[in-house]
Amino acid sequence: MKTYKVAIVGATGAVGREMLRCIFQFHFPYESIKLLASSRSKGKEIEYEGHKFIVEELTEGSFAGIDVAFWSAGGSVSAKYMEYAVKAGCINIDNTSHFRMDPNVPLVVPEVNAYALKNHKGIIANPNCTTIQMVSALNRLDEYFDIERIIVSTYQAVSGAGVAGMEELYRQSQEVLDGKEPVAKTLPCASDKKHYPIAFNCIPQVDVFNLDNRYTKEEMKMVNETKKIFNKDIKVNATCVRVPVLRGHSESVYIETKKPIDLDKAFELLSHSHGVELYDDIENQVYPMVNLFIGDELVHVGRVRKDLDNDHALSMWVVADQLMKGAAYNSVDIGLKMIEMGLL
Ligand code: A2P
Repeated sequence: MKTYKVAIVGATGAVGREMLRCIFQFHFPYESIKLLASSRSKGKEIEYEGHKFIVEELTEGSFAGIDVAFWSAGGSVSAKYMEYAVKAGCINIDNTSHFRMDPNVPLVVPEVNAYALKNHKGIIANPNCTTIQMVSALNRLDEYFDIERIIVSTYQAVSGAGVAGMEELYRQSQEVLDGKEPVAKTLPCASDKKHYPIAFNCIPQVDVFNLDNRYTKEEMKMVNETKKIFNKDIKVNATCVRVPVLRGHSESVYIETKKPIDLDKAFELLSHSHGVELYDDIENQVYPMVNLFIGDELVHVGRVRKDLDNDHALSMWVVADQLMKGAAYNSVDIGLKMIEMGLL
């Protein structure tokens, strides 16, 4: 079997660490693995299951001889260094938002639109975590019932804001338990003017606001990326909320469809959707919750029910470990799919 020289850009971050784990766990055929991060991490040792790696500083020359790179170091890093990787002949799977809406860059969830990979020009974008789990859950339903409109509210973990987001929740929780005022430095968005405590709180802002239409950038990612992945003008209305959960995003998803909903058929489709686990047995109080699925690569769907007034509408609860299915696993799965399709 052919093996590949692999690089992970942002290897010391919350997603980068999971990318390394996924390469081993899902048997990505590597010949070598190069871990790249900022100058701050140069020389740092990272160990995974007995394999020791020394982190190197990302530079313009980092990609000589590299076959495939997985990127998760932020949009500005992808914007600055990606061109050098492409010029070096490296195939790049980018978890940042920088290239997602570029018409020359496929935006891929393998079980939904792997066909789009054929048109790549050296860069493939991994969608936003919230979009991935939603389109993965809805894909078979869309094929059968033809979804016209989605209304989604998200309950997003702090790890979506990286290692700093997780540290903030731990620290603030202790501050509150100690009777102190929690100090907010990172959330809702490190680059925005104000910061609010996330411990014992919910913040209805993920990413910065788009002042033109009063939605946040995260919400607009769900709107635009869903249209691109499903390759149709599907209507999407999103409300994204940060909640005091360390890891794993939940979504309340409501869909309106062209065909009337047959609930038995919906259950059948969901139970045979690749990458999706139907986890729905209300008699026994079985429904997906984030703490059940940490480190797991599937999308879990429960609380599936027809709308009481609209025969063409369905609601459900969709849960995934966003560092895995929403980021690292989906990226590595794109790489595996490209190998299967003879594109790598
Ligand atoms: P470092 O740890 O050296 O700062 P997270 O989103 O979890 O905070 O992770 C961000 C990742 O992106 C980290 O691995 C971080 O490395 C990396 N990173 C941030 N800025 C740069 C940069 N300018 N060049 C290379 N890697 C970067």
